Amino acid sequence: MCGIIGYTGYGDASEIITSGLHLLEYRGYDSAGMTICTDSGLMTVKTEGRVSELEKKVKSKQFKNAFCGIGHTRWATHGEPSEKNAHPHGTGNVMLVHNGIIENCAELRQMLKKHGYRFDSDTDTQAAAYMLDLEYKEEKDSIKAIADLIKHLKGSYAFGIIFADEPDTIYSVKKDSPLLIGIGENENFIASDISAFINHTKKYIRLCDGEIARITKSDIEVYGTGGKRLFKDIETADIGAVELEKKGFEHYMLKEIYEQPEAVRKTIRFLSNGNMPDTRYFKDIEVFHITACGTAMHAGLIGKYFIENFARVPVYTELAGEFRYKNPILSKNDIVALISQSGETADTLAALRLVNSRNIKTLSIVNTDGSAIARESDNVIYTKAGTEIAVASTKAFTVQVAAMLLTALKTAEAKEKMTKGEADSIIGYIYNNIERSLLSVFHSDTIEKASEIISARHDVFFIGRGYDNYLGMEGSLKLKEISYIHSEAYAAGELKHGTISLIEKGTPVIAIATDELYYDKIKNNIEEVKSRGGYIISVCPENAEKIKEVSDTAILIPNDDKPLRPFSAAAAIQLLAYHTAKKLGKDIDKPRNLAKSVTVE
Ligand code: F6R
Repeated sequence: MCGIIGYTGYGDASEIITSGLHLLEYRGYDSAGMTICTDSGLMTVKTEGRVSELEKKVKSKQFKNAFCGIGHTRWATHGEPSEKNAHPHGTGNVMLVHNGIIENCAELRQMLKKHGYRFDSDTDTQAAAYMLDLEYKEEKDSIKAIADLIKHLKGSYAFGIIFADEPDTIYSVKKDSPLLIGIGENENFIASDISAFINHTKKYIRLCDGEIARITKSDIEVYGTGGKRLFKDIETADIGAVELEKKGFEHYMLKEIYEQPEAVRKTIRFLSNGNMPDTRYFKDIEVFHITACGTAMHAGLIGKYFIENFARVPVYTELAGEFRYKNPILSKNDIVALISQSGETADTLAALRLVNSRNIKTLSIVNTDGSAIARESDNVIYTKAGTEIAVASTKAFTVQVAAMLLTALKTAEAKEKMTKGEADSIIGYIYNNIERSLLSVFHSDTIEKASEIISARHDVFFIGRGYDNYLGMEGSLKLKEISYIHSEAYAAGELKHGTISLIEKGTPVIAIATDELYYDKIKNNIEEVKSRGGYIISVCPENAEKIKEVSDTAILIPNDDKPLRPFSAAAAIQLLAYHTAKKLGKDIDKPRNLAKSVTVE
């Protein structure tokens, strides 16, 4: 949530910050701004809306000799998206950008008003900026002022700060929000994420909570608590320049849906080459706990199905935002698996820290190298989706499902419920056939037809049994996120316990029925809906005659052996959401109110 970038060097700071903000826009895109240091002093430009709007404004200013600056793209927490609430905030002495939430901003505002400060924004950030101004006036020392500022703050923050007295220097401090310092030649950076400076340098320092950094074009100083100078490890990112090409696709989301076969194969290849814990690790596990948020949780629920089904080990699942506050019951032979694409989701990270404090094994399934969740877990299973730019997650979800399947099979082997040969043949089948299977879904023309029906309605329901129930949850989330059509997902047998009262003539009900085990049961549930006027769109294998005959429209997936069906059905529901949103003319890659990385709880 919110992206920060800062630059100091010989390059054009306004251009470098603008391109960095484009790369950070996935973190929030309701408003943007930057403060640039030029020979004529600090200049601030802000706008409501996208970075492209900011870019136009910045270009029109034609800054001369812009050698340093800080920029921000916002996901609103306090105050509506507007120019006045956009960052940077501050005074003639100091400007700052912020990612996080200042929880005690109301008290700070009251206190600062008594010192004569007038607030012209609704943000929590302005309180932090004024507090820093006040401290700086007293201390006349930047580092001391920042150290004093953070003593006043409750909540989470990563700040990029510029003092008017030191216009070539960026200061930074963080707590519970990510902040990296990029090291270039005669230029240095700060950013919320490596991607913002990867086109300039792969070398970076990771700032830790409470550390204060002072950055000029030629020097980086980091101070620990008590003002002690620290010499931090320099890390090298192993990602390439971020691909911003859509490669002929109309949207990133569509491109990423089409990248799924390769992403799943890459993940399987990587994990099968010794990059995940072996069977010994899983041998003594008595109970699995899985926690995550949103789409990652849906992958976790499918993981629960796999682990219970293949390994016969009980699995408890809990959303991370609940898990972290519920005093979970954990025993010494339990393991807690945490799933996260970004590796920095605030609730998932807090859940991890809670488990770590209890000395219970943690295993994270993460897509982002070196992210906080990966670093703080005992063991990491890296998924290999690559960068996902569309806010709605697609390929990151399918690789999480693949990783959960591999985890389930390893556990099954460890528990002697399956031989290595049996496990390998399931994985091998997926590896060799996923491309063919998903291609047939990509070429389906019924998906677009079904999306026409959905796009004309206000309410949609998903039903399914077993793992299809969880795929329904994911399909429902995707549809809501990008088409803004209200949708709910139910276990198929549960609909009649209340929600069926909402079914009226023509209400679309998407029945995901990919497991023959449940055909007879879900067929009955479909009949129940049909007799109340519901319009059935099913997602089922080509040979699922029982389902097809009760469907108004059937989206067919290949008859492939069962292991591939969750993947092909996932692609079908993603495309259904995509085409529905497209028909409605929505902003598919950047849906309203959302951000890709949720670093506030
Ligand atoms: C939905 C989506 C979100 C994320 C959730 C967790 O398309 O992307 O629901 O899955 O915010 O994010 P990560 O996986 O980064 O922890």
